[in-house]
Amino acid sequence: MKFYELTPEKRRLWLKQQGIELDEIDQQTLHALNQLSENVVGQLSLPVGLVKNLRVNDHSYLVPLVTEEPSVVAAANHGASLFAQSGGVTARSFRNGIYGQIVLEISEAFVIDNLKKNLPNLIAKTNKQFASLVKHGGGVKEVKIKRQNTLLYLRVLINPAEAMGANRANSILEYMASELANYSGIKKKLFAILSNYPSQLTSCKAKLHVSLVGGAEVASRIALLSQIGQTDPYRAVTNNKGIMNGIDGVLLASGNDTRAVEAACGVWASRQGTYRSLSSWQVEGENLLGQLTVPLALGTVGGSINSRKDVQQNYRILGQGITSQVLANIIAAVGLANNLAALLAIATTGIQAGHMKLQARNVIANLVASPQEKRDVLALMTKQHLYSQTDAQKFLKQLREEK
Ligand code: MEV
Repeated sequence: MKFYELTPEKRRLWLKQQGIELDEIDQQTLHALNQLSENVVGQLSLPVGLVKNLRVNDHSYLVPLVTEEPSVVAAANHGASLFAQSGGVTARSFRNGIYGQIVLEISEAFVIDNLKKNLPNLIAKTNKQFASLVKHGGGVKEVKIKRQNTLLYLRVLINPAEAMGANRANSILEYMASELANYSGIKKKLFAILSNYPSQLTSCKAKLHVSLVGGAEVASRIALLSQIGQTDPYRAVTNNKGIMNGIDGVLLASGNDTRAVEAACGVWASRQGTYRSLSSWQVEGENLLGQLTVPLALGTVGGSINSRKDVQQNYRILGQGITSQVLANIIAAVGLANNLAALLAIATTGIQAGHMKLQARNVIANLVASPQEKRDVLALMTKQHLYSQTDAQKFLKQLREEK
């Protein structure tokens, strides 16, 4: 039997025979995970934190955010609370569809105008074939074609309805490619696959009185930081990493594909020729204005979303029946919240003050000590601003010697 054909228990046994001990896992979880991926042998767990009051388009949301990084959930809550105090975020999502590509080899005899005339028929036939998607409001919307030497490029825009749509898009594209193979002058298919090129854009905005961030001076420092991110890729990529802290966290919580969004955001940030910040902040009169536009190809159904219990729990937090459009608005708003909190910290105390306090909790969790000793060590670490594992050990030793 091939390794991939073994049960997960047998794969775990094999690892044991190699001298590798794995942690306990319950059978039900192991078998559920085995349905999601290949060669499954275990699980990885991450904390789900809560963003308590994210106001978007006049609604308050509870938002689950998954991350292993200390400070990210705190930052999202900080930003969300500043937004809530100033009327919340306004957001709009354009669920315009996801792209697919079909590239075909053509012969001399190929006449592009003949195919162009036939495209409406091809779209209609495809939508008939994928009637269940059309019933849910989706389907092929548009096809653009371009000839380049011996190759024909088709760019297909597919509305995936409430799903992210990767699987469905690929089936549609392969169907279209096989239909196209019958057209005169088309030799063969080179490939047919979805493109992660930015689409499904979501924009959000917030307007805060400068007093909320500590006054006009801090607000103008935030604006300057933001301006630097428009020209300096070293700052832009870090700014965007802070945004992705929030975006990826909610994508993970909602069972969405973080890699697809990350890849599209990289292209989107470079769309003007140089890599730039995805967000921008400026001072206008007495207000600080922030905005963010991001490509969010996501879904609330499909893929593994419906079958994963950990993900379904997060939909109960978000609110049952949430649409992909609303989820995209929420995710962009969390990205902007994380961004504001980071810029505010950098423009004032610096990022390390808050970060290290939270980091200290990890250090304390790993300390072999009684609960009271842990509390005392944490108090000393915070008081003396010393947060490393070595510092914690040193304080513990000191406390024990004093006793
Ligand atoms: C850390 O995970 C994210 C930040 O570096 C973002 C930023 O600098 O804007 C704090």
